[in-house]
Amino acid sequence: HREAHRRGLARVDAGQPSRLTGRRLEMTALHASGREMPVELTITHLPDHGLFTAFIRDLTDQKRTEAALQRSQKLEVVGHLTGGIAHDFNNLLGIIAGNLELLQRSVAEDEKASKRVATALNSARRGADLTRRLLSFSRQDQGGEGKAACDVGETIVGMLEMLQRSLTRRIEVTTQVAQELWPTLINRSEFEDCLLNLAINARDAMPDGGMLVIEAGKVVITPEYRRVDPNLAAGDYVVVSVTDTGTGIPGDILDRIFEPFFTTKERGKGTGLGLSMAYGFAKRSGGHLRVYSEMGVGTTFRLYLPRLAGAVEVPMAVEEVRLPRGSETILVVDDEPHLAEIAGEFLKELGYSTIVCTDPLEALGVLEQRDDIDLLFTDVVMPRGIDGFTLEHRARDLGRRCRVVFTSGFTGYAHNRPGEASVLHRHLLIKPYGKAELARLVRDVLDDPEETDRP
Ligand SMILES: Nc1ncnc2c1ncn2[C@@H]1O[C@H](COP(=O)(O)OP(=O)(O)OP(=O)(O)O)[C@@H](O)[C@H]1O
Ligand SMILES: [Mg+2]
Repeated sequence: HREAHRRGLARVDAGQPSRLTGRRLEMTALHASGREMPVELTITHLPDHGLFTAFIRDLTDQKRTEAALQRSQKLEVVGHLTGGIAHDFNNLLGIIAGNLELLQRSVAEDEKASKRVATALNSARRGADLTRRLLSFSRQDQGGEGKAACDVGETIVGMLEMLQRSLTRRIEVTTQVAQELWPTLINRSEFEDCLLNLAINARDAMPDGGMLVIEAGKVVITPEYRRVDPNLAAGDYVVVSVTDTGTGIPGDILDRIFEPFFTTKERGKGTGLGLSMAYGFAKRSGGHLRVYSEMGVGTTFRLYLPRLAGAVEVPMAVEEVRLPRGSETILVVDDEPHLAEIAGEFLKELGYSTIVCTDPLEALGVLEQRDDIDLLFTDVVMPRGIDGFTLEHRARDLGRRCRVVFTSGFTGYAHNRPGEASVLHRHLLIKPYGKAELARLVRDVLDDPEETDRP
């Protein structure tokens, strides 16, 4: 763009108006890390002084927030629309079914007619079931109908047998429920429906069998995380993850799967309402439903349910003081700049020296140049064909003695690589993570005496 720049300057020098000055422009700029970013640019010409002032603002945050809000607003609008239609439809079906039932009695003697009426009635009932599910997606009542304190872990364990029966024998179901899970305020039977829907989707994604892992744990969403995803308010949550080792969801449809009637299944196999119901349930409960998927590896759905207030709160300040600290050097790698930055900040506050990379290639360079890295904290899935495992193996090849902690939003790896499962399980930090989890895991790995012997 140098030539265009020179021409523009010459025009201004000649006293002609510039096309750039005095306007607010939005364009793409190149960040020092090589990443492209959206920016706002305003240039003002001060002819008396022969000067230009330029004001550049990074719009990455704003764009991301807008996109996320747009998606959830779209779902909300669709919810209102389908809600209205479903309601009318339900009434119509009620009239049809009611009259059919009356007719059933009148034609009781006529076997053929009886059969016809029974078939029609059956269809009307199926229609009613469909509208019930639609209404369940669109119902916006946060008021608390049917809500009660619920131990999510207990509910999951209670459903296990039923779940196993709904799946094929080639699917192995395991559950992991954290100790002393917080209580939540939810409609228990809706939660069960939601879990069943997720499990059935997982089954459909694993026609040749596989693993289904249902986990329940606790997570603290920090205000920093709201910058990444405005859909979750800061606070304490119980998180239920449902992970399969199935086909994965292609990136181009990932944005649409929560929409009602969006389905990739053949006619009659799916109505595309399962996930919209699950999403509606999450929203009604004051939480959120997120998806992480990796083609050919599997999918994790993560359901966030707010902790029921009233339980004993641990004041943040006290916890802060008790967090384990250190002074080692840590290389942080994540292609999501915000997450990399946040992890870097957390670790710096805990006393560590940090090097933060948002480009896995750059991280590879750092590993090659420096032998004083004590710990590699890396995202698993990254672009450019370099994932967290590649970085780990490169560090070993170079004879580096650094320890490794992986982080990912997707939990399938631990279950997919049997050989590495136990190691990975201990060294995998699930996104999103709080400062406390990061501090503890990093310290644990750095202090583990067995770690030094690893090749
Ligand atoms: N675990 C998963 N793995 C792969 N793809 C999935 C998974 N879960 C959902 N999907 C995709 O998302 C789409 C929408 O899912 P949703 O549950 O809303 O509808 P459905 O399963 O197609 O139909 P229904 O649940 O109403 O019977 C599915 O058709 C499928 O393409
Ligand atoms: Mg489904």
